[in-house]
Amino acid sequence: MDPSARKRKAAEASLEFIQPGMIVGVGTGSTVNFLIELLSAVRERIDRLVSSSAETSVLLKKHGFEVSTLNEVGDVDVYIDGADEANKHLQLVKGGGGALTREKVLAGAARRFVCIIDESKLVGMLGAFPLPIEVLPMAQEFVTRKLLKLRGHPVWREGVVTDNGNHILDVRDLMISNPMEMESRLNQIPGVLTVGIFAQRPADVLLIGGDTGVREMRI
Ligand code: 5RP
Repeated sequence: MDPSARKRKAAEASLEFIQPGMIVGVGTGSTVNFLIELLSAVRERIDRLVSSSAETSVLLKKHGFEVSTLNEVGDVDVYIDGADEANKHLQLVKGGGGALTREKVLAGAARRFVCIIDESKLVGMLGAFPLPIEVLPMAQEFVTRKLLKLRGHPVWREGVVTDNGNHILDVRDLMISNPMEMESRLNQIPGVLTVGIFAQRPADVLLIGGDTGVREMRI
């Protein structure tokens, strides 16, 4: 089975977490795009939708959904999103699609965060996937030097401007043996807006699409 079919399975399994009257947060990426296709089937259950990116908002509107802002809805009942890596503690690396800041806000505002991945994303230690960090453009070189001192190798995602008007650095070779500590440490560098480690707010439920079905992990 190809990874897309596994992603689709995980997305399908997440529908049961959308209960009647819920405010639903929708993430960004190819796994979530399957979810967006499937959302029409549970349209009656959804009170309001909040989106983590301009890209997702466009797709939701194409499927006939109205998109509310987080400021309009208050808290989110369930937030469903993909990840680039996940470990057994449900800590994640996210931001491959560049939407990490709004994703982190929605995860933080959510009563329940359901993460949908294919099984190739489940890892022993986070960090093989280059860690996305959103930085203020004027601080990019300064942050780059700080990351080099931590033995990371940041590469500017050239040509990409986030929905918030910022740049992304993809950092290779960071040993993320303690994700909570690394998230805090990187957050403290001035000019860093968001670090793609989701450890302080991990997922509550991980749905892992594989060849034989969907495995569920909870904290
Ligand atoms: C976007 C993300 C995505 O969730 C992550 O990149 C996974 O993407 P995909 O579902 O396409 O594999 O964090 O910023």
